[in-house]
Amino acid sequence: LVQSTSYPANDNLMELLVCIDALRRASARRITAVMPYFGYARQDRKPGPRTPISAKLVANLITTAGADRVLTMDLHAGQIQGFFDIPVDNLYASPLMAADLRERYDPGALVIVSPDVGGVGRARGIAKRLDASLAIVDKRRERAGTSEVVNVIGDVSGRLCVLVDDIVDSGGTLCNAAQALVEAGATSAAAYVTHGVLSAGAVARIAASRLETLVITDSIRATEAVRVAEKIREITVAPLIGEAIRRISDESSVSSLFD
Ligand code: R5P
Repeated sequence: LVQSTSYPANDNLMELLVCIDALRRASARRITAVMPYFGYARQDRKPGPRTPISAKLVANLITTAGADRVLTMDLHAGQIQGFFDIPVDNLYASPLMAADLRERYDPGALVIVSPDVGGVGRARGIAKRLDASLAIVDKRRERAGTSEVVNVIGDVSGRLCVLVDDIVDSGGTLCNAAQALVEAGATSAAAYVTHGVLSAGAVARIAASRLETLVITDSIRATEAVRVAEKIREITVAPLIGEAIRRISDESSVSSLFD
């Protein structure tokens, strides 16, 4: 069953659950939920008291409905795999991003940038594949009530910077990071992001930003606004997901896809 639980997330999630239930009652030998985008993944812990861990609830719902396995991509936090007691394959878009970057730029001239401290591992992975350098945008609020200070860690002066992230939602993180990079002397800033959530206002925010281009994957079906946006380009993850489905069906290794 292939279903991204993107907007409208609850409708798409419910549809996935009832389809799993139908297949289970029809004696399917094995049911794999293929979720290129796993909605609610950012709610993976309690940031404060009396808040839900919705990603865990979604994991429980999928398991209870009867899925035997989950195939997903660039989970916001890898630990979400541990919310399930069934196998979870977490694919990575980074090889596709690296290949696209290699086609368009001289990799040695690039600086791969994480837009926040949490994404450093992802950015380092792509930088390593390309043999490019690495920088980090560090945002911090010195004291409650004071405005956020944005520091760029690493040398970006006179360089083409490529921000990489798992999700672009409002676009705020990327647009602020692009602004900080240009202020730190970068010649230009582009972004490669796996999941283009792009909620209301995001497309306009990106159009007005210092970002030269935003590349997303088709893990979420693009809206018309995204399709016609001049700065936004889509690369497909369909062959990668197709190959992973084939390997699951053949009971061969999925992880070796990334060797
Ligand atoms: C945060 O940890 C994520 O990796 C993304 O940076 C974040 O979800 C992007 O959100 P927005 O586009 O609304 O700033």
